[in-house]
Amino acid sequence: MPQRGFTERVQSRIPRPIGLTDVPATIVVGTQWGDEGKGKFTDLLAKEMSMVVRYQGGHNAGHTLVVGDEKFALQLVPSGVLYEHITPVIGNGVVVDPFVLLREMDMLRGRGVSVDKIKVSGNAHLILPYHQELDALHERHLGKAKLGTTKRGIGPAYADKAMRLGIRVQDMLDEDIFRAKLHTVLGHSNKVLTRVFNRLPIDPDQLADKVLAECLPILRPHIADSVNLVHDALDAGENVLFEGAQATFLDLDHGTYPFVTSSNPTAGGACAGAGIGPKHIDRVVGIAKAYVTRVGAGPFPTELFDDDGDKMVEIGREFGTNTGRRRRPGWFDAVMLRHAVRLNSLTELAITKLDVLDTFDTVKLCVAYEIDGERVEKLPYHQSELHRAVPIYEEFPGWKQDLTTATEPGHLPVQAASYLRRLEEQVGVPVTLASTGPGRDQFLHWSS
Ligand code: IMP
Repeated sequence: MPQRGFTERVQSRIPRPIGLTDVPATIVVGTQWGDEGKGKFTDLLAKEMSMVVRYQGGHNAGHTLVVGDEKFALQLVPSGVLYEHITPVIGNGVVVDPFVLLREMDMLRGRGVSVDKIKVSGNAHLILPYHQELDALHERHLGKAKLGTTKRGIGPAYADKAMRLGIRVQDMLDEDIFRAKLHTVLGHSNKVLTRVFNRLPIDPDQLADKVLAECLPILRPHIADSVNLVHDALDAGENVLFEGAQATFLDLDHGTYPFVTSSNPTAGGACAGAGIGPKHIDRVVGIAKAYVTRVGAGPFPTELFDDDGDKMVEIGREFGTNTGRRRRPGWFDAVMLRHAVRLNSLTELAITKLDVLDTFDTVKLCVAYEIDGERVEKLPYHQSELHRAVPIYEEFPGWKQDLTTATEPGHLPVQAASYLRRLEEQVGVPVTLASTGPGRDQFLHWSS
């Protein structure tokens, strides 16, 4: 049975406002390789927003929100959905699997969360079953060189978009166009499926029938002109949060290519993926974990292969929300973060999972790399150098104290405060929030 009044109960558990009322347009962006815990702070920041807009990616994202004893794992729907006052918008830059969106909306409805206000941009592109099949086949074809994608069809859907073969959400509204476009794209993709990969072709009309019968009737009222919705909200003086998925170093242009996703999670991506100009952006909050993790392949200078790494994975429960894959662990890398500040114009940092380090004897912070005998403080643009980079660490005594009840800066042991202060100095932007546990109220406002 759906729980009535869930939203009110949830809202009453938020401990305090965070003072964003003068900041109309805020971007939240991951600053590492994803899984920084963006969902939690997005949810927190969302409280003072009237709209939360996803601007890129698709259901390769997995945002977990813990509310009391309840856990919500969202893939496509923006994090602000748990608040009744928020309009959650899936922007034009997102790739949308309509079946996944339906499942997610069903799950939310079933748990008493209203999905009535969810809007999906008519210009967002669809992920359809052939994208997923092609994603898996490409990965298999790459063998040892595989990227470790989530196999959700993200790359093939963005590739179709770039090839001008993509199908947009709005195309579902015109059956003739939808069928014609499916015939065109499958005329191409079926050749790849059958001739390159020896698979069965997908029937365009059967697929059209399924999407139009199962998805369109439910999604129709949610399909919208998201660009004008966002601008009308900003013009009316409302606060809008732009929610990035994945992260800076998974960015198609700025990440560790080719081990990246196929969109632009960096703050600039919000402009293209939501239809706003850069002058609208007032605040860019970077989310960083107190250590680093990465899923899939690719360079990772501070990666740990020792007991400390296993401990981070175990305590931090570092397994994919969607895929269950073990994440690769490592120490916090300030070299990467300084680059993330530049790429995103970060105005501040929010640190997550500080409590995961509670039991460590020593906590390490990478402040520079040694590459071919030289000390390097900027992220090398040549990726071969990144593969050879040896981290130079500053070491801090561990605080060996439970932080999960710390809700004020004064509750932090001196060692944890020193670590945060040094991290902030190294990165060059203020840390304003630190998370001390998975729960919605387990965080503190930090100011050194
Ligand atoms: P894709 O986005 O599924 O194409 O995967 C490309 C790369 O991005 C792979 O290394 C994935 O593990 C990584 N990736 C995609 N989405 C996420 C995410 O939400 N968190 C962390 N890594 C991700």
